[in-house]
Amino acid sequence: MKNFEFKNPTKILFGKGQIEKIKSEIPADAKVLMLYGGGSIKKNGIYEQVNTALANHEVVEFGGIPANPEYAVLMKALKVIKEEKITYLLAVGGGSVIDGTKFLSAAALYKGDEPWDILTNNIPTLKGMPFGTVLTLPATGSEMNSGAVITRKETKEKLAMGGVGLFPVFSVLDPQVIRSIPHRQLANGIADAFTHVLEQYLTYPAEAYLQDRFAESILQTLIEVAPKLLEDPSDHAAASNFMWSCTMALNGLIQQGVPSDWAVHAMGHELTALYGIDHARTLAVIAPSHYKFNLESKKEKLAQYGERIWNITEGSTKEKAMAAIERTETFFNKLGIDTKLSQYTNDYNGTAELISKRFTERGWLGLGEHQNLKPKDVETIVKMAY
Ligand code: NZQ
Ligand code: ZN
Repeated sequence: MKNFEFKNPTKILFGKGQIEKIKSEIPADAKVLMLYGGGSIKKNGIYEQVNTALANHEVVEFGGIPANPEYAVLMKALKVIKEEKITYLLAVGGGSVIDGTKFLSAAALYKGDEPWDILTNNIPTLKGMPFGTVLTLPATGSEMNSGAVITRKETKEKLAMGGVGLFPVFSVLDPQVIRSIPHRQLANGIADAFTHVLEQYLTYPAEAYLQDRFAESILQTLIEVAPKLLEDPSDHAAASNFMWSCTMALNGLIQQGVPSDWAVHAMGHELTALYGIDHARTLAVIAPSHYKFNLESKKEKLAQYGERIWNITEGSTKEKAMAAIERTETFFNKLGIDTKLSQYTNDYNGTAELISKRFTERGWLGLGEHQNLKPKDVETIVKMAY
């Protein structure tokens, strides 16, 4: 196991009816900007619950943050923050609203002229404007981590940012919010959280027995609850376990002391930037070819994953590893998620070369847990995913 330092300061308020507690989590004298997305919260009662809880706070609203939070929209929210002298942000939404709020938390205190530089120049945010979240869609883990991914349509870019200043002060996880989530977004959430675990687990053995079992338990829980949740999103046991699994998959815990990969996400983000494909679906497209391409360096962990998660007991290490990749693809397909790029766009020719060129231009010359995946390898992997 590698050395590590671990601190996660986000307070979690988990369970039924917890939204009302935000009134005592946000300072009474704060001027709050409540941020939300395209309006789902106005149809499922979450908006009313938040407003009731904040009846005695001074609150300004900003709605309309789109899926894959868009820089141009967020810049309008930044203007509101400055004009209204906002002191506290509250994200009410899924990963997109929370990530957008993290960007605003950083941009509100940023001294430079152009906040986009935070993303292009990888400027870590050490201190941001304080913010809390009310999670409405389990998937990304953004409610308990310090990362965000922001899109800029104008340049077809989707870039990551983060820093210790971007942990939410608190996050409300009420599994009842899941009842109104459409099937497609539920499937996305399961696939995204599943892949978050794979990115931190399918590397090479690092004598981290506990981290491996943490990772495996999250995968097993997601596999167990997936059919129940898709059948009946009001199943409280399935919803609770799904929600907590998504948070635990990317709150830093399982990645302590172990190598991590994240190449699937790096390639996937490009597919969203280029074609607008849902984040989770890009991962399901890239993951199988990424693991096949890297079979040799990942075979031990792939075989362990096959044995412990999919009960694959027959064959050599390599055969088990290949069977595990196939089972993963079948799992995504069973969620209703296609795993080939050509199932999302007819316009895929040249995608692999374009992504490889973008990585070279950004100086990303070594991806993966060994930092040895070259842009040329990325090109091959993306082509395998056509
Ligand atoms: O906008 P509204 O109307 O609220 O509708 C949303 C949106 O259309 C809807 N929705 C959310 N909660 C709902 C609901 N509909 C009904 N009932 C509810 N309770 O779902 C749609 C998708 O929402 P979005 O927030 O975009 O989904 P998700 O949570 O999957 O977030 C995806 C974004 O997070 C980034 C992705 O790249 C993508 O931009 N990620 C962030 C990460 C992080 N910060 O750690 C890690 C991830 O790997 C990921 O990259
Ligand atoms: Zn993800």
